[in-house]
Amino acid sequence: MSQELSSTKRDGFSSRFGIIAAAAGSAVGLGNIWKFPYIVGENGGSAFILVYLIAILLVGMPVLLAEFIIGRRGQSNAVRSFKKIAPKTPWFGIGWMGIVAAFMILGFYTVIAGYTIHYFILTVTNGFAGMTSDQIANTYQAFSTSSVAPIVYTIIFILLSLAILFGGVKEGIEKYSKILMPGLVGIIILLVIRAVTLPGASEGIEFLLKPNFSELSMSAVLDALGHSFFSLSVGMGTMLTYGSYINKKENLAVTTASIAVADTVIALLAGLAIFPAVFAFGIDPTAGPGLVFITLPNVFLQMPGGTIFGALFFFLLFIAALTSVVSIFEVIIAYVTEELKFSRRKAMGLTAITVVFISSLCALSNTPDSSLIFAGKSLFDWMDVLTANVLLPIGGLLIIIFLGFIFKRDQLEDELKQGSKSIKTTMAYITITKYIAPVAIAIVFLYGLGIINF
Ligand code: PHE
Repeated sequence: MSQELSSTKRDGFSSRFGIIAAAAGSAVGLGNIWKFPYIVGENGGSAFILVYLIAILLVGMPVLLAEFIIGRRGQSNAVRSFKKIAPKTPWFGIGWMGIVAAFMILGFYTVIAGYTIHYFILTVTNGFAGMTSDQIANTYQAFSTSSVAPIVYTIIFILLSLAILFGGVKEGIEKYSKILMPGLVGIIILLVIRAVTLPGASEGIEFLLKPNFSELSMSAVLDALGHSFFSLSVGMGTMLTYGSYINKKENLAVTTASIAVADTVIALLAGLAIFPAVFAFGIDPTAGPGLVFITLPNVFLQMPGGTIFGALFFFLLFIAALTSVVSIFEVIIAYVTEELKFSRRKAMGLTAITVVFISSLCALSNTPDSSLIFAGKSLFDWMDVLTANVLLPIGGLLIIIFLGFIFKRDQLEDELKQGSKSIKTTMAYITITKYIAPVAIAIVFLYGLGIINF
């Protein structure tokens, strides 16, 4: 009874659209618009996309559904939800891993997010006018390796996310996601229309849509699996925390499918906004991480209306990053407010100070002669590699195993029945994927270990 009383007082999402906007806001991020297009570019186009879609269906989505179920059942933060569902067992360690991963992801992610503000300003003020492509590349190099500017932009970005988080779940995260996400969709559609109507765009469309299996290596397959985790924001308690804010009337299987579709469609649209334009101006599509910050400014310089479309593009990147950063912060804030009994404001302040510290170290690790280089990789790269290739896969693996083998069947059926007429398909999906997903994840994980040479 007392538990019910406390759960009714808990902040939460108030509408279906709010849930979808917030969870899709978390999923759609730099992973979709910055990372997805360049890994597609590096791995030979649409054959890679096909593998990615399979990974989403068999690996990413099952973990997403599991997180929603565990969170809504637990009605609490990532640590306590496990304690409530499986008392006196060590499974709550998954929640702890999630909190560590949250700090690490915020460490590098907010730095790139800060770049988007700088690039938005540079584009609106016509800062690239008259530059050659070498000069554009040098501008990126100079900015990303300087010791002050990236930190300043990172702090500005963190403050903006705090402004959203300040209102709480309903009046903060939900309210802003409901405005920002439709805005994001509108902008990306405008950019796609601009890109596909450029003369010579068809080559880029073909690159994206025509499968070329000869370029599909084993490491590309594993990249696709790893990215399906990162892109859906699963494996570290983000969707679990959001799941704890979803009311009992919602059908979690439908919510899961909607988020996966939205996330994938937006990643594909990002590809359609980028590749036709890149090909139309004869630029190399395999530029890697620099695709967005080096290749695209070149494209915008040559494109009719480039200043406006360039500004829209960096604004899009900014919104995508903002709603994702907010969701990662919320994992930590939910824990600190509920477990340490801090006020939301105090929890936010403390978390933000810690994140600013970690992000600053990450930004500084990119400066020339930095001492924050370990085994040939900067701290920034370590945070990325360790989370995407190690922590998220282990977290996802344990979450799937927890739902598939520990979670009680009657409780599972009870959660799935909410807002749903038949649970047969979802039960079958869980039964199949609880074997497939762990095996696939274990492979990604071993690959991750190989990459970082343990
Ligand atoms: N899904 C986000 C993206 O694609 C990143 C993210 C990872 C957000 C993990 C939350 C948790 O950019």
